[in-house]
Amino acid sequence: MLDIRSLRAGYGRLSALKSVDLTVKKGEIVFVVGPNGAGKSTLLKTISGLMTPTAGTISFNGETISGQPPERLCRKGLALVPEGRSIFRTLTVQENLLLGSMIRKDKAEAAADLDKALETFPILKARYRGIAGHLSGGEQQQLAIARAILQRPTLMMIDEPSLGLAPLVIDQVYESLRQLNAEGLTLLVVEQSTARILDLASRIYVLRNGHVALEGAARDLADGHALEEAYFGYSDHQAAQA
Ligand SMILES: Nc1ncnc2c1ncn2[C@@H]1O[C@H](COP(=O)(O)OP(=O)(O)OP(=O)(O)O)[C@@H](O)[C@H]1O
Ligand SMILES: [Mg+2]
Repeated sequence: MLDIRSLRAGYGRLSALKSVDLTVKKGEIVFVVGPNGAGKSTLLKTISGLMTPTAGTISFNGETISGQPPERLCRKGLALVPEGRSIFRTLTVQENLLLGSMIRKDKAEAAADLDKALETFPILKARYRGIAGHLSGGEQQQLAIARAILQRPTLMMIDEPSLGLAPLVIDQVYESLRQLNAEGLTLLVVEQSTARILDLASRIYVLRNGHVALEGAARDLADGHALEEAYFGYSDHQAAQA
């Protein structure tokens, strides 16, 4: 579904992504983990068209999409829940959700999807006419994910869904990701921590200093050793070569 080859992107002279290869297959839930500044957000911004790559290719469902604007990619089924959620705090929960489905022409189906999203996230139903800025951090995360669902994506990308949330709330958010994936949504999720992801992930990439330090199926990384080594760069000969 998503196929990234030798991707390079950055800010001015800083190369935040050096040569990244990454794939996501239909139905998978793929995690990209890595420390601060590894390039995780840059990767998602580049895939979603907010940044233009300086080299390499991104293809989505067989079509090269590098360099296309975010609105067009959104219509093609790519949705991004950005770092920090970016909900509209002064609008109501309802208004935030309607913004998610605004670009759709299939209004009847969009209404059905809204009902379903409110079922998946009951707290949003309970606070439907309330101000979004009054929701807790975890509730705002759920709102951001629900809004992205209403774009009816085929691939949903989420930047650090657990950021700033209490452990119990992370469990709830992860449970909703599990549910969405079980219903057929393909997910690419970025996290800083490797904790909790092994149960949920199909495959995992460790990103360090703008390159992939490790990639593998979650079941092959289950003991955590290889993950930890790649994450902390104990055997970092790849970085020296980059
Ligand atoms: N707008 C920007 N202008 C200049 N440099 C940037 C900008 N955004 C990020 N960078 C730099 O690019 C590199 C990668 O940043 P990025 O935000 O992708 O990291 P990250 O893995 O998402 O980190 P975090 O876990 O802290 O969110 C870092 O060195 C960062 O300082
Ligand atoms: Mg980030």
